Amino acid sequence: MNYLLINGSPHKGNTWILAERIKSQILALSPQAVFDEIHLTDINLPFCTGCSLCFRKGHEYCPHHKTVRDIIDKIDLSDGVIFTTSTFNMQPAALTKNLIDHLCFMLHRPYFFTKKAVVITTTGGIGANKSAKYLAGMLRGIGFNRCGELPVTSHSWNAYKVADKTAIKCAKAAKAFDNDVSSKKMHPPTASLLIFYNLMRGMGMGCVKGTEYATKDGEHWTDPVRINRFYDAAIPVPFYKKPLGALFFLMGKLSAKFITVTYRK
Ligand SMILES: Cc1cc2nc3c(=O)[nH]c(=O)nc-3n(C[C@H](O)[C@H](O)[C@H](O)COP(=O)(O)O)c2cc1C
Repeated sequence: MNYLLINGSPHKGNTWILAERIKSQILALSPQAVFDEIHLTDINLPFCTGCSLCFRKGHEYCPHHKTVRDIIDKIDLSDGVIFTTSTFNMQPAALTKNLIDHLCFMLHRPYFFTKKAVVITTTGGIGANKSAKYLAGMLRGIGFNRCGELPVTSHSWNAYKVADKTAIKCAKAAKAFDNDVSSKKMHPPTASLLIFYNLMRGMGMGCVKGTEYATKDGEHWTDPVRINRFYDAAIPVPFYKKPLGALFFLMGKLSAKFITVTYRK
């Protein structure tokens, strides 16, 4: 299996110690696993400028497209992503948030359906849960099939010694993640993801080609590969969840009749 380790902390500190631990545990379980790494400090991704071209015209129009494209390509090549970030002021570090901002358009047009992830966050005392939930929620929203969370309190500034309890938690997380990635099993979307996806799909009908404020979203959702689907074709949707998708698609479509999202032409 191919794994991508994204280090979203500004240094190799406490969180990195856990990232390396998870990596070596996966390698012990699956010696044939291949790892690639991205250190967000090294790639110099400028801050999102807020131009919204990714939403309106397509992410290839982003002024930082080359850098973002490289990250998307690396995720595409992986089966599992280990995403790590320090917790700064109760949230993921700014470097991580900046990458999230550049991938926000995928909340409108989810993409990484066959990928699985685990998020590792550390904090000094409080906030690891909050930052893990924030990052994992984003990854699920942009399509990730599964996203585990490993929030850890380090009680340390750069002198972190992994406690026994944390070591057990890491071993469990590494095993569960590697088993799931290796199984290649695609899990059905949760009800909340199905609702979110179909609301986006419905709202996308308000900006199709020919409307006053057409966008890339309209093009995306009317593409024949997804126009009549409640979720991506690669992911099974049980029959009893389909009515939920249909209902929220209609609600999204209806809301688009009353709300027009404008832009400067
Ligand atoms: C700028 C900054 C902000 C921080 N904010 C918090 C915080 O909100 N809550 C907390 O408990 N610890 C906070 N810490 C401590 C770190 O979360 C903690 O040391 C963490 O393990 C650092 O991980 P790292 O070494 O991978 O960067 C902060 C540290 C820094 C440098």
